[in-house]
Amino acid sequence: MARLTSILSLVLALASPSPTAAAPPDSISGQPLLGSSFGIPFNATYDYVIIGGGTAGLVLANRLSASGAHSVAVLEAGSFYEISNSNQSQIPRWVWNGAGLGFGDVNPLVDWEIETEPEEGSGGARIHYPRGRTLGGSSSRNHMVYHRGTKGSYKKWADEVGDKGYEWDKFKAYFEKSTTFNKADGSKRLANSTPAEDPAGARSKDGPVSISYTNWVLPITSWVLKATEALGMKPIPGFIDGDLIGSSWNMRTTDPKTQVRDSAETAYLRPALKRRNLIVYHTTYATKILFNGTEAVGVRASTLGKAFALTARKEVILSAGAIHSPQLLMISGIGPKATLDKYGISVLKDAPGVGQGIEDHPAIGVTYKVRVKSSTFLDTPAKNEEAVREYLEEGTGPLSSTGGELVAWEKVPRRLVSNKTAAALDVVPKDWPDLEFLVTSSYPGLAPDKDDYAGVTVVLVNTFSRGTVTIASSSIFDQAIVHINFLTHPVDQELAIAGFKRAREIMTHKSMAAVVVGDEVLPGNGTFTDAQILKYVKAGSRTISHVSCTCKMGKKSDPLAVVDSEGRVFGIQKLRIVDASGIPFLPPGHPMSTIYALAEKLADRILGGK
Ligand SMILES: Cc1cc2nc3c(=O)[nH]c(=O)nc-3n(C[C@H](O)[C@H](O)[C@H](O)COP(=O)(O)OP(=O)(O)OC[C@H]3O[C@@H](n4cnc5c(N)ncnc54)[C@H](O)[C@@H]3O)c2cc1C
Ligand SMILES: *[C@@H]1O[C@H](CO)[C@@H](O)[C@H](O)[C@H]1NC(C)=O
Ligand SMILES: *[C@@H]1O[C@H](CO)[C@@H](O)[C@H](O)[C@H]1NC(C)=O
Ligand SMILES: *[C@@H]1O[C@H](CO)[C@@H](O)[C@H](O)[C@H]1NC(C)=O
Ligand SMILES: *[C@@H]1O[C@H](CO)[C@@H](O)[C@H](O)[C@H]1NC(C)=O
Ligand SMILES: *[C@@H]1O[C@H](CO)[C@@H](O)[C@H](O)[C@H]1NC(C)=O
Repeated sequence: MARLTSILSLVLALASPSPTAAAPPDSISGQPLLGSSFGIPFNATYDYVIIGGGTAGLVLANRLSASGAHSVAVLEAGSFYEISNSNQSQIPRWVWNGAGLGFGDVNPLVDWEIETEPEEGSGGARIHYPRGRTLGGSSSRNHMVYHRGTKGSYKKWADEVGDKGYEWDKFKAYFEKSTTFNKADGSKRLANSTPAEDPAGARSKDGPVSISYTNWVLPITSWVLKATEALGMKPIPGFIDGDLIGSSWNMRTTDPKTQVRDSAETAYLRPALKRRNLIVYHTTYATKILFNGTEAVGVRASTLGKAFALTARKEVILSAGAIHSPQLLMISGIGPKATLDKYGISVLKDAPGVGQGIEDHPAIGVTYKVRVKSSTFLDTPAKNEEAVREYLEEGTGPLSSTGGELVAWEKVPRRLVSNKTAAALDVVPKDWPDLEFLVTSSYPGLAPDKDDYAGVTVVLVNTFSRGTVTIASSSIFDQAIVHINFLTHPVDQELAIAGFKRAREIMTHKSMAAVVVGDEVLPGNGTFTDAQILKYVKAGSRTISHVSCTCKMGKKSDPLAVVDSEGRVFGIQKLRIVDASGIPFLPPGHPMSTIYALAEKLADRILGGK
């Protein structure tokens, strides 16, 4: 169970001969146990060396070390977020602290502080692109929204990579293996906002990650659900059984009682910390993958400048995430030849797909003044104190929610787009929505006052713009060059305009009349024509940090595919990529569930000798 961990207990866990710091691997080459006082086995050999202790990396660390038959090392640039970011990373509402577009309030101990190139989709601004630099990776940094993709999207995945194991009927077992479903707590939520039990939940019985309903919801959500239903988004049992089109209540990766964040660190690492065959090198960068010919044999690493190398007897597994996995591959000699040549990196394999094809989901909101309590829940010190009490003593109140809800999905009504765009959108399967709707309690840019504001944010989940990541030097310590390129494709621009109009239709629907006060506040008057809407979209949109597909999985015949359906890098031996970079495309919606499932599936395959 995820609890608010006192810093002291973790410090003690690190300082005492805890397995994180001190358990010896089963065999050590070079000098054993250098770094004496902490007993860190530098220059050691393991069966598996995992780069990145994030969402996927810690699933692998747990599963590959479970039987005791294999030794496993994890290299993670960050450390325990409970220490480096206190309860800021644990309490749902506080995800907004340090979430700014700039860097002033971002804690570098848990975030990579990546700055993109000037993004057309953000009016030419460079944006802060958050990524978790901590154990648990982005699962320790994200907004905890949990749902699964659609049956059709996983069928497309299976077809594209030539592996039926990704069809929903088979793949779903791994979504279930990674999670435990918890019913909504009717004693904490009002009757009109307590979902009926999702029958699919019964199949997620004892996985490491808790998926739960919040013990508190933004009141306006109940009205928005009436409006989305009236507009054709029919209620469905939930978003975890391979269907999304429709409306429902959303789940999050939190402990059902305490409402503390569950992450790959709490769910997969903590229960495995005592294993003597699992070593975590935290606060340690992988700086290069080492090869003998085309076979990966180890990883060069640095703990605050102290350099060493780990040898991998069986495999090196790259789980550094969608920005750092391609960066490390390129630095290590696998990537587009022209890029490697430019930085004097000797080419081990010319792999033109590395760093290409970034997919992401743009979001844009509309805001109204409302008559129900919404943005003023925490606007005085007294309210904050009471919220802290409710949260700590009862696991409820506004701190137990991030302050919004995912409520509905739909194919954009075709009347709102041109026939050309409709035809482009129709390339995805029938169950793949174009738009996702979230309820939000305010929107960036709005100065707080004594009134309540709320709105709907629309997220584009069927997009055509693609970005890139490339290197700026041959060193892992120089930030990669990231172009998300969102909203650059004309289809995405048209969909954004249509989605924006749809968000307005929801907020101005007659079911909302009882709670909405007056005219739209943001963007408000002056944003009516498509050109005006597009201007607002570009000035006010963001992505929701779903960067992926930069070392994509595919068939050998696809020149841009970097890994096969088992995550193995084409043309290289003993090197696998398991993380958001290695998916063939971004399924609709939020990707965390898919990353957990992918890592579970590939852990199974590795243990099965594939
Ligand atoms: C702000 C934010 C909000 C999000 N909200 C949601 C949401 O609500 N729901 C959802 O489903 N998804 C959400 N996502 C997306 C989701 O969290 C990610 O897609 C997913 O966690 C990615 O998993 P991963 O294993 O690919 O990478 P990560 O979990 O990011 O793991 C990569 C790890 O590798 C480490 N690393 C990188 N380079 C090195 C190196 N050289 N040496 C050592 N270690 C290294 C990193 O520090 C990190 O720990 C969000 C993401 C963010 C950032
Ligand atoms: C969060 O941690 C700080 C110390 O870092 C502590 O003062 C505060 O009471 C904690 N808040 C909650 C809600 O646990
Ligand atoms: C490199 O691989 C070759 C061929 O498998 C092997 O003979 C050699 O010992 C390896 N070298 C090292 C340093 O592991
Ligand atoms: C690891 O081995 C390399 C090469 O032998 C050596 O240069 C380095 O100092 C060693 N590092 C540690 C921390 O022992
Ligand atoms: C768009 O498609 C609809 C339905 O197929 C058709 O009736 C209409 O004429 C088309 N409009 C244009 C401008 O081509
Ligand atoms: C929008 O314009 C109308 C007409 O000029 C005005 O009555 C209304 O108050 C304006 N609303 C806002 C939010 O500015």
